[in-house]
Amino acid sequence: MPECLEVVRGHASVRAYLDEALPEEHVRAIVEAARRAPSSWGLQPVTVTAVLDPSKRRAIAEAVGGQEHVARAPLFLVYSVDYNKLLEAARLFKVDPAEPGLGHFTVAVIDASIAAAWSALVAESLGYGTVFIAVYAAACRVAEVLGLPRRVVPVLGLCVGKPAERPAPRPRQDPDLFASRDGYIPLDGEAVKRLAGVLGEKAKKVYTTVLPRGGFYERVGRELAECLRERGFRL
Ligand SMILES: Cc1cc2nc3c(=O)[nH]c(=O)nc-3n(C[C@H](O)[C@H](O)[C@H](O)COP(=O)(O)O)c2cc1C
Repeated sequence: MPECLEVVRGHASVRAYLDEALPEEHVRAIVEAARRAPSSWGLQPVTVTAVLDPSKRRAIAEAVGGQEHVARAPLFLVYSVDYNKLLEAARLFKVDPAEPGLGHFTVAVIDASIAAAWSALVAESLGYGTVFIAVYAAACRVAEVLGLPRRVVPVLGLCVGKPAERPAPRPRQDPDLFASRDGYIPLDGEAVKRLAGVLGEKAKKVYTTVLPRGGFYERVGRELAECLRERGFRL
């Protein structure tokens, strides 16, 4: 069994950390993992910001809905979609750059997410606890805190620190509901019940908060579209 699969199987998001800074070499390794991640066309439309200033971490914690673990994490990384640097580089090839649009954004969000996942895997391999943060839900506010230029949109955060809690791995969808071969999963009534049951007692709250008309994801979509336009994207 590959060692990294053991790390993946042991994963549980950690939201409480010891008050201990990471050694510089660990910070570098976690950022390096993101830098080495694959990206579409090898373009890397991504920038990683380590937020070291506690007052900025506090401001981001408030921006993402009062998430205390963001302020308390010894290391907080922000992964941004970044067409600012790439459009500068494109000028060298006399490219008349299109305003970045939905295609640009989608590809870069995927690249940024893969980069962040690689960081998390390395951080957890080093024994740290991590939790991703939905920076996409407060993208423009986080961009303002960090003073990011136009065409840069922060999408994901990662808290890293020595764990002060060791939660057990949390449930996941059954293998037959998560993956299939050569087609779609068999989604009968029994399967739907099993699917809804994965989140246990939290299921009703999560489903009714996130998915309905006017719910969390619709709000994220509206606000993100507005933020993208403000930051020089065309939708
Ligand atoms: C893209 C993404 C965004 C997330 N955003 C947050 C967040 O803002 N705050 C938080 O506490 N956890 C966040 N999480 C963590 C999830 O809640 C967590 O991964 C999920 O509940 C499963 O739990 P586990 O990671 O412990 O297995 C996020 C996870 C992902 C992948």
